[in-house]
Amino acid sequence: MLTPKNTIDLAGAFGSVWIARHLGGRGGRIPLVNFIITRECNSGCKTCDSWKTARSGADELTTEEILDLRPAMRRMKTRLVSISGGEPTLRGDLETVIAGFKDGGFAVHLNTNAFNLDGARVDSLAASGLNVVYVSCDSVEPECYKAIRGVDGLAGVIEAVRRFRSGPRPIPVGINVTVSRMNENELERIAARFVEMGVQKIQFVPIHRRHTMPELALSDEVMSELAPSNIGALKNNLKRLARRLRRSFIATNSDFFINHFEYAYKPARAAPCFAGYLFVDIMPSGEVNPCHIYRTGLNVREAPLDEIIGSEEFAGQRREVTRCDAPCMMTGCLETSLRCRLSYLLFHPMEIYRQANMHL
Ligand SMILES: C[S@@+](CC[C@H](N)C(=O)[O-])C[C@H]1O[C@@H](n2cnc3c(N)ncnc32)[C@H](O)[C@@H]1O
Ligand code: SF4
Ligand code: SF4
Repeated sequence: MLTPKNTIDLAGAFGSVWIARHLGGRGGRIPLVNFIITRECNSGCKTCDSWKTARSGADELTTEEILDLRPAMRRMKTRLVSISGGEPTLRGDLETVIAGFKDGGFAVHLNTNAFNLDGARVDSLAASGLNVVYVSCDSVEPECYKAIRGVDGLAGVIEAVRRFRSGPRPIPVGINVTVSRMNENELERIAARFVEMGVQKIQFVPIHRRHTMPELALSDEVMSELAPSNIGALKNNLKRLARRLRRSFIATNSDFFINHFEYAYKPARAAPCFAGYLFVDIMPSGEVNPCHIYRTGLNVREAPLDEIIGSEEFAGQRREVTRCDAPCMMTGCLETSLRCRLSYLLFHPMEIYRQANMHL
C-alpha cells in the first residue's frame, strides 16, 4: 500500500536509478530484486526448457543464506522481492522465505504455475504475507493447456486462483499469459475467464527464445513452430482487449508494450532497459546478474550483495545492458523499465499509482 513515506522513497529511488542509468555512476540503489529461487520444475512446458535441464537442488542457496541478504538489500533500499524459478513452490521453505522478507520490511511477489497447489498450500502462502501472486496460465481449454504446459493442470490452476482470491487472506492475483501460436486465438477467452474470477491484472508476454536463465534458450525449430503467426493482427487484438480490461479496472500491458510486441523478435531496443539499475536477478546458487541474459559470475556466497552491485565487474556488465540489442520484450524488464521514463511518469500518473498500490 502506498503511504506518504513510500511515495517519497519511490521518488528518491526513481531519481537515483535514472541518474545512474543515464548519467553513469555506481547507483547503489536496487529497488527490485528477482530471486530465481530454484531450477527445479514440476511442469513440462513447450515454451520453457527449465524442466528438462533442472539439476538437483543441492547447490541452491539455503533459507538462511537467502534471508542473510536482507541487510545488504536494506542498504540498497530494495522495496520489492519477486520470487520465481523454475517452480518456486517446490521449495518447502518458500513460506519461511516470504515471511522473512516481509518481516524485513520488503514487499514480496510470487510467480508460480500454481497447478499443483492444494487449498492448504494456497492458504499458507497467502498467510506468509505475499503482496501479490502471479499465476501463469496459457489456455483455459484443458487440452490446449496440457499441450502447451505438458501437464493436465488447468483445473488445479483455476482452483488455486479461486482460493487466492477467496481464502482466509485474499490477495491480489495477476495472470501471466505467454503468447504463442498455440494460444494466439484464445486470448479473449483466457481474459474473460479470469475477469470473471476477480483477478487484478492480466498481462501478455510474447514467447521469447531466452526468458529466464542465461543457460536456457529455445531452439530455432521450437521458435519457428511457436512464434505468433501474424503479429499485426495480434497487436490489434491485444489493443482491443487491453482497452476492455482497463475499462473494467483490470491492469494489463501498456499500449507502448503492445505497440512494440514484435521487438521480442527484433535485435533492437523498444525503450532503454534498466536491468542492473532498477532490478537484478539472483540465481538459485547465488550468482548475481543484471538480467536473464548477462552473467557476471559474481556470487553472494563470496561477497555481500551491495558490494557486488558496487563492484567494477558488475559495472562492466551494466555497460553491456546499456548497449544491449537482444530481442527482449519480457514484461518484467520492459514494462518495469518503462515506468522509469520521464515521459511515461508524466502521462500515466494514475496507472503508476495503481500499480504501486497493488505491488507494495
Ligand atoms: C520461467 S516461469 C517461472 C515461474 C513458474 N514456473 C511459472 O511458470 O509461472 C516465469 C514466466 O515465464 C513464462 N514463460 C515461459 N516460457 C516463456 C518464453 N519462452 N518466453 C517468455 N515467457 C515465458 C512463464 O509462463 C511464466 O509466466
Ligand atoms: S514456465 Fe515455469 S512451469 Fe513452465 S517449465 Fe518453465 S519454470 Fe516450469
Ligand atoms: S533488454 Fe537486454 S539487458 Fe535488458 S533485460 Fe532484456 S536482455 Fe537484459
